[in-house]
Amino acid sequence: MSRVTIKDKTFETSIPEAEILERVKKVAERINKDMADKNPLFIAVLNGSFMFASDLMKHITIPCEISFVKLASYEGTTSTGKIKEVIGLNEDIRGRHVVIVEDIVDTGSTMKRMIETLGTREPASLHISTLLLKPGKLQVPLDIEYVAMEIPNDFIVGYGLDYDQQGRNLRDIYTLVNE
Ligand code: IMP
Ligand code: MG
Repeated sequence: MSRVTIKDKTFETSIPEAEILERVKKVAERINKDMADKNPLFIAVLNGSFMFASDLMKHITIPCEISFVKLASYEGTTSTGKIKEVIGLNEDIRGRHVVIVEDIVDTGSTMKRMIETLGTREPASLHISTLLLKPGKLQVPLDIEYVAMEIPNDFIVGYGLDYDQQGRNLRDIYTLVNE
C-alpha cells in the first residue's frame, strides 16, 4: 500500500495497475463478442477516460473506430448546479453503433446528458462502457452494459482520474484517506 499527497489531500493505493488492466481486458473481450460485425464507433469522453480508452482499444480486435469528445460544464446556471454540453463531436453517428467510453459514473448525470445529446443524432444503438461505477451514488436510471469495476462511494484519483487536475498520471487507482 503506498500513499501519495496531492495538494491538501492524502490518497492510498486501492486498485493496482495489474488488476485494472485485467478488468479492462475482460470488458474488451465482451465488447469484441457483442459488437463483432457492427463496426462500433467508440466515443471517449476527455479528459478522464484517456488511459482507459487507450488500454481498452489495445484489446479490441474487431473492426472499429474511435473519436473523442469533451464536456463543457457551466457552474451555477441553475439551482441544481452543472449543465454540461458535448463538444467536439464531428462524426456523423447516424446509423452507427456507438460505445461511449467514460472514466467513472458517479451520480450518472453526466452520462444521462451524453445519452440524451447523442440520442438526438439517431445512432443505430448507444452503449455505455465505464472504467468505474459507484453503484451507491447512482441517481438516475442508466443501462450501463460494460463496467470494468464497481467501487465504494469514496473519492479516487489515478489512471486518468484527477483531483483538481492532478494525479491523472498515476498508474494505479488511489482512494482518498479520511484523516
Ligand atoms: P457524475 O455526473 O456525477 O456521474 O460524475 C461524473 C464525473 O465526475 C466523472 O466523469 C468524473 O470526471 C467526476 N468524478 C466522479 N467521481 C470521481 C472521483 O471519485 N474521482 C475523480 N473524478 C470523479
Ligand atoms: Mg469523466
